[in-house]
Amino acid sequence: MNDKYIKILKLIKTNLEDNIEWGEYDLYNDYVVKDKEQLLNELKCQVNMCHNCQLGNKRINVVFGIGNVNASLMLIGEAPGYEEDHKGEPFIGKAGQLLTKIINSINYNRQEVYITNIVKCHPKKNIVNCNKRDNNRAPTLYEIKNCVKYLNQQIDIIKPKVIVTLGSSATKGLLNTDINISVVRGSIMKYKDIIVIPTYHPAALLRNNNLKKYVWSDMKQIRKYLLL
Ligand code: URA
Repeated sequence: MNDKYIKILKLIKTNLEDNIEWGEYDLYNDYVVKDKEQLLNELKCQVNMCHNCQLGNKRINVVFGIGNVNASLMLIGEAPGYEEDHKGEPFIGKAGQLLTKIINSINYNRQEVYITNIVKCHPKKNIVNCNKRDNNRAPTLYEIKNCVKYLNQQIDIIKPKVIVTLGSSATKGLLNTDINISVVRGSIMKYKDIIVIPTYHPAALLRNNNLKKYVWSDMKQIRKYLLL
């Protein structure tokens, strides 16, 4: 190697050592994390005040989303249920416990991913004398259309590598498609330039055990795209 290259290499080495000594890399990472957290917090404050549809008048908590702001994997469900409404956290009931197992099946944990819903408030059936835990309904198209703008902003801030839409409301709402979940599941779709892979909602698996094999096959596909 001639002297010129040795000099250049020495210069690069000194420069790297200086940067490490001054902690520039850590400072840079902190800056990126803080920035995303700040943006999400600002958005959360906005959603907390939202009364764009009737769900806003009946909620106990807005269920904004939870997890790693730098997540490469983002999972999107339908809407909070009774437990989630009370705690302000997504997927903590029975379907949520199954979702945790599904996430673990590809060697991720809940803290590493970001979990949210297409609709941020609990849609209730308005039936008197109904068991409160069963008083869930799917969000209407109007409610989805009103709320999806918040999800769009969450995605823009987090910029995940892969998005998984869980069930038909999340898939239709994000991708603006009418294709049935049984047809679209497992296929590679795009939202902006992000890969979207729809799969069944964990609540559907609790009702029908036969769907588990499809979700497992979709999860293997999801793992493959996360590793690319
Ligand atoms: N089902 C959902 O779609 N989201 C939740 O947060 C809980 C149950």
